[in-house]
Amino acid sequence: MANVNAGILGTGHAYPAGVLTNADLEKMVETSDEWITSRTGIKQRRKADASEYTSLFAVRAARQAIERARIDPSEIELLICATVTPDQILPSTGCLIQAELGANKAAAFDIAAACSGFLYGLTLANTMIRTGQVRNALVIGAEVLTKYVDYTDRSTCVIFGDGAGAAVLGPVESERGILAARIRSDGRFAEQLYAPGGGTRLGSTAETIASGQHFFKMKGNELFKVAVRSMAEISREVLEEAGERAEDVKLFIPHQANQRITDAVASKLDVDESRIYSNIAMHGNTSSASIPIALDECVEAGRIAEGDLVLLASFGGGVTWGGVLLRW
Ligand code: ACO
Repeated sequence: MANVNAGILGTGHAYPAGVLTNADLEKMVETSDEWITSRTGIKQRRKADASEYTSLFAVRAARQAIERARIDPSEIELLICATVTPDQILPSTGCLIQAELGANKAAAFDIAAACSGFLYGLTLANTMIRTGQVRNALVIGAEVLTKYVDYTDRSTCVIFGDGAGAAVLGPVESERGILAARIRSDGRFAEQLYAPGGGTRLGSTAETIASGQHFFKMKGNELFKVAVRSMAEISREVLEEAGERAEDVKLFIPHQANQRITDAVASKLDVDESRIYSNIAMHGNTSSASIPIALDECVEAGRIAEGDLVLLASFGGGVTWGGVLLRW
């Protein structure tokens, strides 16, 4: 199919009703609202209850995106769920979502690229739509991270929250849609953010669970530096590839990891505050869900107009990073 780009036709998001505030965390670990706010920008995060699971929020977000894209679930040919907190090991969360939606013509699977998962998904969907292999794709980022958080570890438990965001993509004229998309990873930094237990290496035994091996472990301040550098670099790369300039970006949505990371990336790129979206205060870090939740909030708030240049950049465990530039 010549002269076709992949564009976003509809977006949606969902999250649990449960809220965990900084005041709640003050009662659980030695921390303070002042420390969390000044070091991260986070005031609260959403937290699933024991009966809630990842696909529940993914399906809600996806239904909204499908409705707004004005397509039928049977028209979706590719369904990607980006998650590091799947419902279960087998089958993929993507297949569970597919069944709930009735998207029976789709190839459904998961991507495990942590916070960059949604941009990994957009990049794959973009390629498959541009090459004509599929017409419509559904890309979801969905996480229930709080079930993998150690609420005795103050360096990780203040950061993470739960939620899901989704986007339906389809062919649009070549001046619009995704103009450039790049994804990268560097496994040499794997131990900067990892959960050692629960897989085939250590398994899930009474001992691994008792010693908290299934919980996320993070070297926060090392990741911080890599996050700033890689998000700024990949943003410049996609701008250059598309022949666009940072000053023409109308909306920059970085992965919502830490307000200080967002501020540092923005200053490296020279994008002023009024053009950057941040919802970290309300959601914390929702990993792969963070960019699609933010994107849908911007759509709902009328912050994106047709023709606007929108830059998305992510960074996460792996380590992985990605950049997508699109014209709305
Ligand atoms: N409350 C109070 N004090 C704390 C807390 C807390 N919640 N957490 C850490 N501290 C203390 C530390 O113990 C340390 O004390 P010390 O100086 O006495 O040793 C001090 O604060 C400074 O610790 P740092 O880790 O250097 O703090 P930093 O300013 O780097 O903030 C944070 C930590 C928020 C984790 C930050 O490093 C960060 O956001 N890193 C990036 C996280 C990230 O982006 N992760 C990747 C994406 S997530 C994904 O892929 C799923």
